[in-house]
Amino acid sequence: MTRPVFVTPRNIWLPGPPFCLNHAFRRWIRKKISGQRSMRYQGRPGRGEKRLKGGIGVDYTRSVRGFEGGRGGWLGVDRRGLLIRRLLPMTHILAVSGSLRKASFNTGLMRAAEQVAPDGVTLTGMTLHGIPLYDGDEEAAHGLPEAVKAFKEAIKRADGLLLVTPEYNNGVPGVFKNGIDWASRGPNVFGGKPVAVIGASPGGFGTILGQNHWLPVIRTLGMRPWLEGRLMVSRAGDQFDAEGNLTDESTRERLREFVAGFAAFAGP
Ligand SMILES: Cc1cc2nc3c(=O)[nH]c(=O)nc-3n(C[C@H](O)[C@H](O)[C@H](O)COP(=O)(O)O)c2cc1C
Repeated sequence: MTRPVFVTPRNIWLPGPPFCLNHAFRRWIRKKISGQRSMRYQGRPGRGEKRLKGGIGVDYTRSVRGFEGGRGGWLGVDRRGLLIRRLLPMTHILAVSGSLRKASFNTGLMRAAEQVAPDGVTLTGMTLHGIPLYDGDEEAAHGLPEAVKAFKEAIKRADGLLLVTPEYNNGVPGVFKNGIDWASRGPNVFGGKPVAVIGASPGGFGTILGQNHWLPVIRTLGMRPWLEGRLMVSRAGDQFDAEGNLTDESTRERLREFVAGFAAFAGP
């Protein structure tokens, strides 16, 4: 029997990147293996995906420490497109901010969480821009809106969910609850999913009541809460700059510890 010969166009060069066949081949392999878009295509819709209005674009391709690839696994692809064997399985955390405000403290806290994720952990943040108010008639007539489908897909792919919640009137903000309510429709993506809650507020209690208010929801959805760590960022006005970036180093350290603890709980 003739044995197949695999020819990789390793040394076939046209004028140079990005026209180089070698690079195109590596990009193709990387895409096939990770099932994701390569760094080059960040922000652009991939095949079969639609560009969504608002801020619901989850950037699945972004990760820490140079690895691409969403969910944990033993095989990965490095930035050069080379197939590598990961030393440790990756843990992917999806963080959701419950505020739509541009300079939101909570969205700022979520961004800081992305920055402090430890080795072996990818933490991707998103907001709920583009998710409409839940309307049962709309759902019956048209099913789930595209933004909700994208949100659900992101939850499904994550090993754990980090809720970054503001506190409104001592409870969960309607915008945030609305997003979770939509995502609870149709196939269950929450059951058994590790979840943790953090939050920031300008007051002295740092969303303690808002965080507690999530507990019955988490229980109803059958999620697995991580209750060992707590992070309530109070007096947020002193800890974030005018654009909502976290500036306080001790809070950043507490956040680093929290993310590491939660990731260890959520990881494979
Ligand atoms: C309707 C409403 C209710 C609020 N209720 C509370 C509250 O109960 N406790 C609190 O600490 N802050 C409360 N705040 C203040 C929010 O914590 C503050 O607006 C915060 O900046 C919101 O989070 P963000 O910066 O991520 O948007 C409330 C704000 C609004 C708009």
